[in-house]
Amino acid sequence: MNVIRRRGWEIPESCATPEHLFFNRRAFLAAAGTGIALAGLPAGAMAQRVADIPDPSESLYPAKNNPKYVLDRDMTPEKVNLNYNNFYEYSTSKSLAREAQQLRVRPWMVKIDGMVEKPQQIAIDDLLKQMPLEERLYRHRCVEAWGMAVPWSGFPLAEFVKFCKPLSGAKYLKMETFNDPKMAPGQGSPLYPWPYVEGLTMAEATNELAFLVTGAYGKPVAKQMGAPLRLAVPWKYGFKSIKSIVRFSFVDKQPKGLWEAIQSSEYGFWANVNPQVPHPRWSQASEEVLGTGDRRPTLMFNGYGEQVAEMYKGLEKERLWA
Ligand code: MTE
Repeated sequence: MNVIRRRGWEIPESCATPEHLFFNRRAFLAAAGTGIALAGLPAGAMAQRVADIPDPSESLYPAKNNPKYVLDRDMTPEKVNLNYNNFYEYSTSKSLAREAQQLRVRPWMVKIDGMVEKPQQIAIDDLLKQMPLEERLYRHRCVEAWGMAVPWSGFPLAEFVKFCKPLSGAKYLKMETFNDPKMAPGQGSPLYPWPYVEGLTMAEATNELAFLVTGAYGKPVAKQMGAPLRLAVPWKYGFKSIKSIVRFSFVDKQPKGLWEAIQSSEYGFWANVNPQVPHPRWSQASEEVLGTGDRRPTLMFNGYGEQVAEMYKGLEKERLWA
């Protein structure tokens, strides 16, 4: 994402930056549970110290693949994905893997409130026990005109919505990332209205494609990808897919996302992928396929029109594409 300073679609810095490849994900995830402050430690030493502590959800992966979600392209290599991320809580650079290891993913409480039968809080591992885990291969298209193909694991957002028991008056689902500048130095920046917020209509939240991600590449999802719980709504630009969610609120007013709050002329509520509608500062007609050096034409609704186009009939007056 960018507002005015950076062009995110430039050559991935990650292609020239192998420094993060030695990270032992399992070790870092485990370290989170121990509360070890990671930022100052040499990565090798840290990995050694925590290598024996298992991630509490590790045995759930790999989840069974759902064969319904097939792709027209190769999976983006995990190495590429681990080293090219947007997570402004940690950095405005794409190479933020090291910084993101400061994220503590246990304990992780998820708050459910607003228009629900009964507001509640649930620990991520208790939630995982109650949700049907599966793997889905999804395209992932950033508004900055790059794309990936990712093997996410998680559960349908529709299942989670059912679990929350929303009241009939709820029209939107608002989601929030944690807010803790000590754990995420980027949140010390006054330039952004933290916490990161995103929202969906109830129809979108219960669409079969809307997916809550807890894993990727057959493992618990990496911190830099938004551990331990993030959204994947693959027909929308990537900024809608909020990371590291701690709160779900069922509301009757359209939530304003962080990017919409900063720059509503460029980033709106709907943000559906449309190759024919350029971003005010660049074309959306094609995308860089990360890890390949290729560009390819962008697909309407990122290729998911069959599942989602119906939801937007009658809403043509809305700014559906930004
Ligand atoms: N969620 C939070 N909390 N903070 C962020 O900076 N960036 C968004 C989205 N979710 C972001 C976020 C943007 S712009 C994109 S493109 C995707 O996450 C990037 O996801 P990835 O790093 O897994 O590719």
